[in-house]
Amino acid sequence: MRHLSVPSKETAYWRAELENSNWLSIGYGIHNLGEFRGIPLNDSAPGKIESFAIVELPPITTGPSQWTDRLEHGLFEKFRDLWPMSYDQIGEIIILKIPNEIKKYSDQIGEAILGQHPKINSVYADNGISGDFRVRQLELISSVGKPSTLTKVKEHGSEFFVDPTVAYYSPRLANERLKTVETAKRLAGKLGRKIAVCDPYAGVGPSVIHLAKLSEVVENIYASDLNPAAVEILKMNLPNYPVMCEDARNLSKIFPKRCDLLLVNLPHDFSNHLPDLLGLLEKGHSVVIKGWTILLADAFESTKQEILKNLGDCLVEDFSLELIKSYSVSEVLASVELHLILS
Ligand SMILES: C[S@@+](CC[C@H](N)C(=O)[O-])C[C@H]1O[C@@H](n2cnc3c(N)ncnc32)[C@H](O)[C@@H]1O
Repeated sequence: MRHLSVPSKETAYWRAELENSNWLSIGYGIHNLGEFRGIPLNDSAPGKIESFAIVELPPITTGPSQWTDRLEHGLFEKFRDLWPMSYDQIGEIIILKIPNEIKKYSDQIGEAILGQHPKINSVYADNGISGDFRVRQLELISSVGKPSTLTKVKEHGSEFFVDPTVAYYSPRLANERLKTVETAKRLAGKLGRKIAVCDPYAGVGPSVIHLAKLSEVVENIYASDLNPAAVEILKMNLPNYPVMCEDARNLSKIFPKRCDLLLVNLPHDFSNHLPDLLGLLEKGHSVVIKGWTILLADAFESTKQEILKNLGDCLVEDFSLELIKSYSVSEVLASVELHLILS
């Protein structure tokens, strides 16, 4: 099969050019020719493309099983244990943490990942989450054509927009969002009516998007976030409900005693914010606070006491604090579910 031999650094660009011209042979792999890559051409491709050589090579029909197989063998062996094998795929974007020792090979990493995942548009290095808005510091390392930042994700049958360069979103908490759906269903069953939900730290809305589909369970949704960029995307994802850009601690003045289910996804400050959020909940019947908090791995009991203290004077019907995963060497992320009656 004919292959266009291009400089390895320009592989992503030329692959996209060939695809746009309908000259790419789809379904075949790209040859690693040292400093060059051989991109498979179909029968419509002309005999001359720019000044690149066109070489006859066997077609690669079964691609490498993982992206690291696409790295030059010597390079792979040299840093064998350092290549990141886990990454987040968010729509058409892949994000991964690259250890400092191999940062200078970011181009090769990006190219290998794009080669392995034909539907991915851009690869970003994750330099950690920072700031109150919990936005990841992302560094573009490779893309096919114009890099995408706004992308659509599918999660448990729902589709929504995210832009990890401007607003928080973690695909790793998708299971937690399913549990929130179950909590909402149980609360509606217990109250014998549809419920109102408030998500004051909604981000782009991954939790409330699932709830908005439950027309038998959810009557109203109040979603808000302090990050204006997150709110712009939230409005796109949740067009039929009021969306605000507000500090959560002020929301109960705008929507007093309005909800039955309150989501509190601010894990570093769950407990501190609680007193200012209680005014959002309806009084006189069972309501639920579902939240997430970061705590020291051996501090479950003291964290429970601290949370109870911040609830003030109310009847606690049920209280669970459950480990989700470790967060750092000494800390863990846990989910909180509180069933209360406020008077
Ligand atoms: C951990 S993220 C959760 C986002 C979203 N619920 C999710 O699951 O993807 C916390 C969110 O709280 C927002 N935030 C931080 N401080 C806030 C505040 N005082 N009031 C409202 N939102 C705040 C951040 O912008 C961020 O989107």
